[in-house]
Amino acid sequence: MDGLVAAARATGVADERVLAAIAAVPRADFVPPEYAGQADADTPIPIPHQQVTTQPSLVARMVEALALAGDERVLEIGTGYGWQTALLARLAREVFSVERFAELAETARAALAERANVVVLVGDGSEGLADHAPFDAIVVAAAYPSVPAPLVQQLVEGGRLVQPLGPGGDEDVVLFEKRRQVLQQVRTISGAHFVRLHGRHGFA
Ligand SMILES: C[S@@+](CC[C@H](N)C(=O)[O-])C[C@H]1O[C@@H](n2cnc3c(N)ncnc32)[C@H](O)[C@@H]1O
Repeated sequence: MDGLVAAARATGVADERVLAAIAAVPRADFVPPEYAGQADADTPIPIPHQQVTTQPSLVARMVEALALAGDERVLEIGTGYGWQTALLARLAREVFSVERFAELAETARAALAERANVVVLVGDGSEGLADHAPFDAIVVAAAYPSVPAPLVQQLVEGGRLVQPLGPGGDEDVVLFEKRRQVLQQVRTISGAHFVRLHGRHGFA
């Protein structure tokens, strides 16, 4: 994990809580077994259903941008195999994560089993989770050209949201804050290549 901490630092991540979380969560537990030997490399890793994990240093930048202090309720869209979920669980009070593929959600659940403050649900994350809203922070791990309206509604005033904005494959990962009921763009965190956000408020 030292390599992933160094990779995160090299991309500008300075929040010691985020760096400590990366050091504490073995990524090898959150990739397919045949890729365990590559888990400490700062590269995306394929997972079933033609999906891919996010590059660790980019996960670190996205999570850092949420500026979590420890008492937040967080919504994550796109669990994948759950490494980002595990980091969020160390940095916030409660994490709700939604994944569209049941097989991925089940694998993530098993890897996250010891983390009591995480709930992984199968569903269409573009609709958010109205039953558990509002959320202090939301992170979307799949790309769409705009932020789905339900996610804006389910974010608290002053809350932070990170999402890759684009068509899928060529995005800007953007940090927003909700001010006076409207999302304000704060900054672009990075360019990136994400899989698409599918669903009612995403791609078909
Ligand atoms: C880049 S991967 C997630 C990577 C993961 N967060 C990590 O830590 O590496 C994006 C995930 O978003 C999921 N996804 C796409 N559209 C979704 C939706 N509407 N609801 C829930 N999950 C969705 C995909 O199935 C995929 O697993």
